Amino acid sequence: MDTYFEESFENAENAEVFVGLVFANNVFGKNVISDTEVKKHLAANPKFEGKRGQTLTYTTINDYSDEVLHIVLLGVGEPSALDEKTTELLAAPLLKALTATGREHAVIMTDTTEGMTLSREQFAASLINAVNLKSYCFDKYKTKANDDKPALQTLGAEVENPDEAERLYATLEAETKGVLIARDLANEPGNVLYPQSYADRIANKIFPSGSPVKVTILTDIEMEILGMGAALAVGQGSSKPPRMVVMEYNGADGSLKDQKPIALVGKGVTFDSGGISIKPGEAMDEMKYDMGGSAAVVGAMSAIAAQGANVRVVAIVGLAENMPDAGAYKPGDVVTSMNGQTIEVLNTDAEGRLVLADALTYIQTKYDPHTVIDAATLTGACVVALGHEFAGIFSNDDELAQKIEAAGKEVHEKTWRLPLSENFAKAVRGGKTGDLVNITGRYGGSIGAAEFLHAFIDDGRKWAHCDIAGTAWAQKNHPVMPDDIGSGYGARLLNRLVKSYEMQPAPVPEVKPADILHIQV
Ligand code: BES
Ligand code: ZN
Ligand code: ZN
Repeated sequence: MDTYFEESFENAENAEVFVGLVFANNVFGKNVISDTEVKKHLAANPKFEGKRGQTLTYTTINDYSDEVLHIVLLGVGEPSALDEKTTELLAAPLLKALTATGREHAVIMTDTTEGMTLSREQFAASLINAVNLKSYCFDKYKTKANDDKPALQTLGAEVENPDEAERLYATLEAETKGVLIARDLANEPGNVLYPQSYADRIANKIFPSGSPVKVTILTDIEMEILGMGAALAVGQGSSKPPRMVVMEYNGADGSLKDQKPIALVGKGVTFDSGGISIKPGEAMDEMKYDMGGSAAVVGAMSAIAAQGANVRVVAIVGLAENMPDAGAYKPGDVVTSMNGQTIEVLNTDAEGRLVLADALTYIQTKYDPHTVIDAATLTGACVVALGHEFAGIFSNDDELAQKIEAAGKEVHEKTWRLPLSENFAKAVRGGKTGDLVNITGRYGGSIGAAEFLHAFIDDGRKWAHCDIAGTAWAQKNHPVMPDDIGSGYGARLLNRLVKSYEMQPAPVPEVKPADILHIQV
């Protein structure tokens, strides 16, 4: 989608749809096209009251071109309730109304009124960005015209200060680009996106040489040398060997290399058949998005780097395909993880935790991060508990859990904290043969999985695990995600979270004249 910000709509060449704002109780300002026409249409449509998300569309004749012009009146509700987040709630109804016109080029006439603290520029940047997020469509494999695709090609806005709007939009767009990367990865089929092709895409396309994100690919041979027996076991039944991809961002100019980093870790199972403990056939195709955690991590790294964030971040994604085969790992097998703990595999479908175990060990050993956050489509039990609405958060640090919740709230990525538990920690250590088992009992499966990961976290390190099994696939009617598609959940949340660790430049101390007088030379 192309975007622009202009001072006067007269420059809005090609606009076929004008969007006018109507506040609660049908208060509207000067920036609608024609007062009398608006009043006429409002009077004829008494159900339209300017409530948030209401729309009213009519046509008129463009005075300049003599052509038919669509007008969409967009209800924005109480002006005092408008902030960046509530503005995003307008994207879905606006996109729906724009799509119904079938037109390609639209312009939003932003406005302000008494009680509105959000500037026109903030409003325009937030709304256009949210429409961009909501209108995402994965149709690269459709060879025929796709009727579901919104026709919208250009969305502009009339604002007072276009430069300011562009500046605000650039930050949001950098984040959105990361979300779109995450969605593209999640929706890619398993025959196209497998560990090596995924690693290549990260290293060559997403972070090509010269990017501030440095990429290292660990091949299966290197993983073997490192002793990553758990992650290797998962990929053993596939013709596509596993990979780990490490990403390092040391600030825009690389100057933060000596700082303790924050670490992101993602589950990247490019297809999860369940392996020998094979899954039922129904909806098995969805398991192509079992790499949603890794997609969120890659997307967040892209967003962080594109904004030149002043923070050191390292990341690792564990990539493997879980398949049944003569060479596949089996229930009862004992594997040795990189940190030396042995794991008795009781179910080959609980594979994500095995991949993550070695990824967690590697990132802690190599970079000594102050905080580790992992994202993974880890358990069906989490979907049962929280549906597609909330990701489950587990953490050994209350402040970190709160930061994650706050970051998610900013961007419509809801979270709900679930407990760690000593009993479950005992259960993962309760096997007959190895140090750990990869499944716990029938109930509380998400807690058992979290405690398994916990066994790979060094004492004293802050850690949070985000189980995104439910949210990696978009629920219907989400404010900024398209329906029923790999959602990119987590890319925005992790970007906001990491940015909350950004180092502010040290404040310049105020020097009083008296201090200067006392300096001894
Ligand atoms: N990838 C699945 C979890 C999943 C389920 C993600 C539904 C998205 C939607 C994971 O690898 C898995 O299969 N977990 C098992 C664990 C069980 C064997 C202990 C599960 O949740 O059933
Ligand atoms: Zn599985
Ligand atoms: Zn899985």
